[in-house]
Amino acid sequence: MSRVDKSPLYSVAYKPSGGQNVKKIAPSILSADFTKLAKEIKAVEDAKADYIHIDVMDGHFVPNITVGPFIVEAVRKATRLPLDVHLMIENPDKFIPDFAKAGSDILTVHVETCRHLHRIIQYIKEQGIRAGVSLNPTTPLHQLEHIIGDVDLILIMTVNPGFSGQSFIKSCLPKIAQVRRMLDEGNHKAELEVDGGIKVSNISAVAQAGTDVFVAGSAIFGSENYKKTISAMRLEIGE
Ligand code: DX5
Ligand code: ZN
Repeated sequence: MSRVDKSPLYSVAYKPSGGQNVKKIAPSILSADFTKLAKEIKAVEDAKADYIHIDVMDGHFVPNITVGPFIVEAVRKATRLPLDVHLMIENPDKFIPDFAKAGSDILTVHVETCRHLHRIIQYIKEQGIRAGVSLNPTTPLHQLEHIIGDVDLILIMTVNPGFSGQSFIKSCLPKIAQVRRMLDEGNHKAELEVDGGIKVSNISAVAQAGTDVFVAGSAIFGSENYKKTISAMRLEIGE
């Protein structure tokens, strides 16, 4: 069954404020050329990206270190697109106000890092921004059960977080479909975002599982022409 546009269930999924059921592309700047970051961001903005996805890594929760609030602030100045900030850090509560002040529009925390998840989600919302929750590929979905109605975004990882350019873990596809069902059955409006290994060649399958927001790093920034790549992705997902 196609979940791209025809399924009656899809009509109850998250709808952007415009009222259309538009799927979103979120380029991850982890794969951008940081020596010309503003230009890279402008290029994906011109290519009609919907969000700018920023991967924050601390060297503890994941085996890599990337950027902090200082870079988020710089990215804020370079674009009007919503900043979708993915926190792959231990003790995220300590940094939430800093990332909010830096200009994040969505702050997503990993359930694996949160001892008091409900409190942290409320804390993010208190900053006046959207709150997301993310699950690693092997983290079971029951972790969502008591928070699904409180979040604005659910981020399903389809690689083990830490690096761009990894291969999509195919066994995550049924997991995405299961989250879609949980959202639809509960009439929850959170966006369903998928992150890791998404390319033009597999984005259609990811869409059919019920994804709303597609994060792509290497597939976009590693391509010759960002506009062509994003257009090709949209064609594959029926947008
Ligand atoms: C992985 C990050 C991803 C990553 C995606 O830990 O959360 O956002 O940058 O990169 P690709 O699309 O290359 O897998
Ligand atoms: Zn990410």
